[in-house]
Amino acid sequence: MKALARNLVQTALGKAGYRLVRKRDWDEAFGRWPGRVEGPAPDADAIAALRGDHPELSALRDAYKNLNVPATAHSLWGQDYVQTQVNMQRFRDHSAYVWVYRELPRATQLKYYVYARYVQELCPEVLETLDEDGAFGCLCYDFEDLGRVSRDRLDSALEIAFLERNLGTDFFQGARILDIGAGYGRMAHRMHERHPEIAGYICTDSVAESSYLCRFYLKHRGLENSTTVLPLNQLVEDPGRIGEIDLVINVHSFSECRYEAIRWWFDQLEALGPLKLFIVPNDPEEFLATEPDGSKKDFLPLIEERGFRMTAKEPVFRDSNVRELLNIQDHQFLFERR
Ligand SMILES: C[S@@+](CC[C@H](N)C(=O)[O-])C[C@H]1O[C@@H](n2cnc3c(N)ncnc32)[C@H](O)[C@@H]1O
Repeated sequence: MKALARNLVQTALGKAGYRLVRKRDWDEAFGRWPGRVEGPAPDADAIAALRGDHPELSALRDAYKNLNVPATAHSLWGQDYVQTQVNMQRFRDHSAYVWVYRELPRATQLKYYVYARYVQELCPEVLETLDEDGAFGCLCYDFEDLGRVSRDRLDSALEIAFLERNLGTDFFQGARILDIGAGYGRMAHRMHERHPEIAGYICTDSVAESSYLCRFYLKHRGLENSTTVLPLNQLVEDPGRIGEIDLVINVHSFSECRYEAIRWWFDQLEALGPLKLFIVPNDPEEFLATEPDGSKKDFLPLIEERGFRMTAKEPVFRDSNVRELLNIQDHQFLFERR
């Protein structure tokens, strides 16, 4: 009788274009995040610092607003975007900094597992040195043998492994690194975990919230003395503050800038002499700047014009099955200027 009633309801709903779903299945698909673990809650100091109206952040916003340089004329990272996409207290959650998988909960968990297994197979020694606690809203999962995994930990492991493969591990001894569009300092933190022997790591950015969060986060990780967050106004005032640099890092950042902003950044690199340049663009195999009208402009000629030659190009996932399952076609590129 019960089954008959259910069939009748199902048929009627089906005709109207609906489907009857068991509550358990619904919860599984949309309600719960199976396996998701929450990191430690922010302490009182962190809560006080991570306010959108913090005086230091307001001062930084004013300083950046008053700069008349192409790097602050945004196409994507305008004030509206920052306000809607950057969550001050949960800045490591799905956000403008790291787009975590936006699938249904169960599929997300499976994707993280596939991703983590891949990284463990490719570069176990790098993965092992990077720790994850899940702080500041980071979406992560605990897997047996793999520990706590997040996009931050996994993306960073693959990026560092790429650099180690192509530069050799000796390169990091005494290396000085400049990260343009450094976000909240993900790579600065990860690079120090894996290569504490580097001599300097400068994070710079043209979005005040990013510079502010970067300074906060690196201090939180105990790296305030071994890293430098160079605010854009100070860089404009005195480009010599960059000093000597061996490697420039740009991960998912130039793709979110206007062409003229990228050109300006390359102007700043002009005086640095021989240099390695690591870029991960947003488009799989193209270097496309984002213009205010949404159009795209190829900036590879700009890189080459400035004397850089491509020395390595690899898909982030060499295994085509993993690429398809995770739906990530990104590539990592290394350039060199002699
Ligand atoms: C997707 S996030 C990537 C952050 C970081 N590189 C990472 O991989 O974790 C893009 C970064 O580019 C920065 N950005 C946006 N426009 C910029 C510009 N014109 N110049 C420099 N950085 C910019 C943003 O503030 C943000 O930190």
